[in-house]
Amino acid sequence: MGAKIKLSVEDVSKTFRIRGGQNSEDTFLAVLRHVSFDVREGEIVSLIGESGCGKTTLLRIIQGLIRLDAGAVKVDGQTVTKPGPDRGFVFQQASLLPWRSARANVEFGLELQGVPAASRRDQAQKLLRLVGLETSGEQFPHQLSGGMQQRIGLARALAIDPSILLMDEPFSALDAQTREELQGELLRIQRETGKTIIFVTHDLDEAIYLSNRVFVLGAKPGRVKKIIDVPFTGIRPELPELRGDPRFQEIRAEMWNLIRKPVPLAA
Ligand SMILES: Nc1ncnc2c1ncn2[C@@H]1O[C@H](COP(=O)(O)OP(=O)(O)OP(=O)(O)O)[C@@H](O)[C@H]1O
Ligand SMILES: [Mg+2]
Repeated sequence: MGAKIKLSVEDVSKTFRIRGGQNSEDTFLAVLRHVSFDVREGEIVSLIGESGCGKTTLLRIIQGLIRLDAGAVKVDGQTVTKPGPDRGFVFQQASLLPWRSARANVEFGLELQGVPAASRRDQAQKLLRLVGLETSGEQFPHQLSGGMQQRIGLARALAIDPSILLMDEPFSALDAQTREELQGELLRIQRETGKTIIFVTHDLDEAIYLSNRVFVLGAKPGRVKKIIDVPFTGIRPELPELRGDPRFQEIRAEMWNLIRKPVPLAA
């Protein structure tokens, strides 16, 4: 991980206007308020926080799909105003195009960029190999398992060679075993490609295992409550082994205390 700042989120605020219907007034929902942080090149940062605290909204703002009310998002010092090939998105559901083969799904972004067929094919083959599916390129999405579909979704996002990957709960629909497998794969792919990753998850273990830092968001309005440094560096032991590390338990407890709702006292 370099020392260079890849992404800056500078004092970002966002309020949604919710239409009131015929007889009622519009209401306003303050989703994010004064959110600021930097992410270094090659860093993996996880965002955690209760449902509705604005994690997806924040990723969409970084992607350039949602306009912010105040503040700025910068990639390499340049202000983001719209989606661009420097940022790739991976969704909770792979949402592949069902009529296209796995390979053709991976090639999609390159087609839009007008990349010639032969180099598209080469590029797609490399990516299929990177995500461990080099022999499945001709299969269609319905012929792939959920885990395989998420691998293709990742390859599709990587195809345009973004420097930043924005991942919104990408593994949450998978069974525990596939999930751990893909977490390991993501770390390997990150080591091989040096991508900067912003990863949204509700799974505390996943956040600690994958990240250099975990940003704990608070709700109503969303803000960064705490930034937690994860002390493990280099190639990490597998998650089951890491869970036994006292530092892991300590961080996990801290995160849990920050996100859990206060329990009302019994009368
Ligand atoms: N386009 C929109 N218009 C109005 N309100 C919206 C819009 N998008 C999101 N919201 C509201 O903003 C809040 C934050 O939503 P967001 O999807 O960012 O939360 P989240 O942290 O990703 O939640 P989850 O963990 O459930 O995915 C929610 O209350 C949601 O209803
Ligand atoms: Mg969300």
